Amino acid sequence: MSGPPLTGKIVILTGAGSGIGRAAARAFAAAGAQVLGVGRRADALRQTAAGHPGIVAHPADLTAPDAPREIVDAAVDRWGRVDVLVNNAGATALMPLADTTAERIGDLFALNVTAPSLLAAAALPHLRHAAGSIVNVSSTYGHRPLPGAAHYAASKAALEQLTRCWALELAPTGIRVNALAPGPTDSDALAAAGLPPETVNRVKSDEAARIPLRRRGEPDEVATWIVRLADPDTTWLTGQILTVDGGLELV
Ligand SMILES: NC(=O)c1ccc[n+]([C@@H]2O[C@H](COP(=O)([O-])OP(=O)(O)OC[C@H]3O[C@@H](n4cnc5c(N)ncnc54)[C@H](OP(=O)(O)O)[C@@H]3O)[C@@H](O)[C@H]2O)c1
Repeated sequence: MSGPPLTGKIVILTGAGSGIGRAAARAFAAAGAQVLGVGRRADALRQTAAGHPGIVAHPADLTAPDAPREIVDAAVDRWGRVDVLVNNAGATALMPLADTTAERIGDLFALNVTAPSLLAAAALPHLRHAAGSIVNVSSTYGHRPLPGAAHYAASKAALEQLTRCWALELAPTGIRVNALAPGPTDSDALAAAGLPPETVNRVKSDEAARIPLRRRGEPDEVATWIVRLADPDTTWLTGQILTVDGGLELV
């Protein structure tokens, strides 16, 4: 098929109502894909989709028991197939060891680890049929330590190891599985973690000072790599974790 590289491809993308997910939904649509954009806030998803006919808003809480099956069914009922799953929704939690609770660990892992796993499992028959791909959104801190946010880092480390294991497990079916690990990127993530505005500003300026390129990333700078990892032309790339972080990983 001619046209943009993802013409005719069907993408399920979580966390599409803000930040990196919103930018990725629009980048996929610009590349010719049809996108089912998932998140809890219907209004935010509608804003993502406004002016982008390739994006359909699909409000859902990924941690609800029936969500994975219901989300995959929505894509298949509408388009008849699923080519790409992007597990982008995730949460950050600043949680020093002394403040650690079972409930907060459980909530973090339910969203960052369990939800991507169950959505991938639900999408599997369709991804197999399409010889499609999965892109998991990790973090620089999936493979380097983050004092004061150990369980966030551990949840992303888990997602990176799931990426490698699934890549091998699914290679015989032709499904590729990769992860994108962004560094600090402008989005709602810090505010969504419940931090007060002055703490958000301090964290942002501390991060920018540590990054070799001397600034935080923009969602578009991350989204473009999510689309490239999913591009069917990257036929021989699987099991990889691509870090896009202005050089932070090197220092
Ligand atoms: N920004 C950074 O500095 C950075 C760095 C490294 C990695 N990341 C990763 O990048 C990904 C995107 O984050 P972001 O920075 O773009 O932050 P964000 O703007 O807070 O996006 C997170 C998205 O996840 C959705 N979400 C949260 N809980 C959900 C649930 N239970 N069910 C469905 N959707 C849910 C949110 O939408 P609703 O609230 O409407 O549900 C939101 O759109 C995350 O996995 C994050 O860990 C971000």
